[in-house]
Amino acid sequence: MYLALLALIKDNLAPPDWLQEGQAPEQGTRSIHEVVASWDLTNLTLAAVRAPPVNWPLPIMNKDWDGVSPDLNGTVDLAVKFIKEASQNNARVVAFPEVWFPGYPKGVINDEVPNPWFEYHVKDYIQNSLVVGSDNWNKLAQAAVDYEVYLGFGFSEKADDHLYIAQALIAPDGEVLIHRHKLRPTAQERDLWTDGQLDEIYAVSTPIGRVGMLSCYEHITPEALFSLQAQTEDIHIGSWPYTPDFGNQSLTYESAEAMTTFASFYAAVGETIVMQSTVGTASIFPAGQSANYTQIVANVSFEEHPLVYRVANATGFRNTTYNKNGEFSWGSLQGINRAFPAYIPKDMGTYVLYHEQNLQTLSNESLV
Ligand SMILES: *[C@@H]1O[C@H](CO)[C@@H](O)[C@H](O)[C@H]1NC(C)=O
Ligand SMILES: *[C@@H]1O[C@H](CO)[C@@H](O)[C@H](O)[C@H]1NC(C)=O
Ligand SMILES: *[C@@H]1O[C@H](CO)[C@@H](O)[C@H](O)[C@H]1NC(C)=O
Ligand SMILES: *[C@@H]1O[C@H](CO)[C@@H](O)[C@H](O)[C@H]1NC(C)=O
Ligand SMILES: *[C@@H]1O[C@H](CO)[C@@H](O)[C@H](O)[C@H]1NC(C)=O
Ligand SMILES: *[C@@H]1O[C@H](CO)[C@@H](O)[C@H](O)[C@H]1NC(C)=O
Ligand SMILES: *[C@@H]1O[C@H](CO)[C@@H](O)[C@H](O)[C@H]1NC(C)=O
Ligand SMILES: *[C@@H]1O[C@H](CO)[C@@H](O)[C@H](O)[C@H]1NC(C)=O
Repeated sequence: MYLALLALIKDNLAPPDWLQEGQAPEQGTRSIHEVVASWDLTNLTLAAVRAPPVNWPLPIMNKDWDGVSPDLNGTVDLAVKFIKEASQNNARVVAFPEVWFPGYPKGVINDEVPNPWFEYHVKDYIQNSLVVGSDNWNKLAQAAVDYEVYLGFGFSEKADDHLYIAQALIAPDGEVLIHRHKLRPTAQERDLWTDGQLDEIYAVSTPIGRVGMLSCYEHITPEALFSLQAQTEDIHIGSWPYTPDFGNQSLTYESAEAMTTFASFYAAVGETIVMQSTVGTASIFPAGQSANYTQIVANVSFEEHPLVYRVANATGFRNTTYNKNGEFSWGSLQGINRAFPAYIPKDMGTYVLYHEQNLQTLSNESLV
C-alpha cells in the first residue's frame, strides 16, 4: 500500500489519500514553471536552518531532558517563522535538520541497558511526532506555498504503528516531491524508529535542478550513498541532528570534524551542492572539491543567525538523471560485485535485514 502511494508521488499523479486529510494547502493559481520563471536562477539562494527547535536542551552537548518535553506545535510555528524570514531574504530552498520536528532526542544513542532515555521520554516523543496530512503537516505545506520555497525537512514521522526518521520535500505549489524514511536508523536509533526501504532513496527533477535528500549517517552508508549519487543530484538536502564547535577531542561520531567531513565528501564525489542542515555548526558546500564553502559554527548566536545562506548559479546545473560514464554508474556497480572477494560467504547476515519497532511495545517500555 505505502509503496503504491510513493509511486504515485514519483509519477506526479493525483495526490495520494493521506494528503487529503485535514486542511490541505491551497494550491497556488500559477503552475510551478510559472512560479520559478519569476526567479533569478543565476542567483538561487539556499538556506539551511541551524537554530534548535522549541524545548530542546542547550548547550548543544547537553543531553539532560529532565522535565523537558518536545513541543511539536510550537516547533511547527517556529519553522513557519524561519521559512518566512528565509523567503524575505530571497531564499528559494529552505532545509531543516534531522527530526527537527519535534527535535532530535539527544541521548537516545546510548549502550546502557535499559536505555534511560526510553524509560522516561518515549511516550512524549511518540505524541510529538508528526503525522503526514495532519494540521501541523499542512501548516508546513502551506508555508512552502505562501512563501514560495522548496521546503526540505527532517521529521520524526508517526505512521500506523511505527515511527520513522523521515524527510520530505514540498514544492512551492504544495506538491510533495519527496517523502522518504531513513533506510537504517543509526545504532540505538533503531530501537525507536523503524527502517525505511531501498526504493525510498531517490532524486527528483525540478525546474531548479535535480534534488535528493539523505539523513545523517546515510551519507556514508554504501547503499544510500551509491544509490542516490547514481541519480546525479544538483542540490542535495542533507539533514543532520546537531553539530557542536570544532576542537572537542573527547567526541567521536558527534564531532564537527566528522559531521562536516561527511557532507563535504558527499559534495566532492557527487559534484552536487550539499546543504548541511544541523543544529549548531551548519554548512553549505558547493558542488565538487572546493575550499570556498559557507559555514556558521555552533558558538554563533542562534537569534542573530538562525539560518546559513549561500547563493548558487542554477543555470549551469546538469539536471541529468544518471551518468553512464560516472563513478556511480551501472558499470561501477558491476565492478563492486566482481571485486567483492570470493572467500566471503554469500550470507545476508542480520544487520541489513528489515528492522521494525511497534508503538505499543515502545509505550510499554516507558515509565510515564
Ligand atoms: C542574490 O541574492 C542575494 C540574497 O540571497 C542578494 O543579496 C543579492 O543582491 C542577489 N544578487 C543579485 C545580482 O541579484
Ligand atoms: C497541538 O495543536 C492541536 C491543534 O492543531 C491541538 O489539538 C493539540 O491539543 C495541541 N497539542 C498540544 C500538546 O498542545
Ligand atoms: C529538469 O528536467 C525536468 C524534466 O526533465 C524539467 O521539468 C525541468 O524544468 C528541468 N530543470 C532545469 C533547471 O532545467
Ligand atoms: C567558536 O568555535 C570555533 C570552533 O568551532 C573556534 O575556532 C572559535 O574560537 C570559537 N569562538 C568563540 C568566541 O568561542
Ligand atoms: C565536549 O564533549 C563532551 C561530551 O563528550 C561534553 O561533555 C563537553 O561539554 C564538550 N565540550 C565542549 C566545550 O562543548
Ligand atoms: C566564495 O563563494 C561565494 C559564493 O559563490 C562567492 O560570492 C565568493 O566570491 C567566493 N570567494 C572567493 C574568494 O572565491
Ligand atoms: C551562470 O552559469 C551560466 C552557465 O554556466 C553562465 O553562462 C553564466 O555566465 C553564469 N552567470 C552568472 C551570473 O554567474
Ligand atoms: C502492553 O502492555 C499491556 C498491559 O499494560 C498489554 O496488555 C499489551 O499486550 C502490551 N503490548 C505489547 C505489544 O507488549
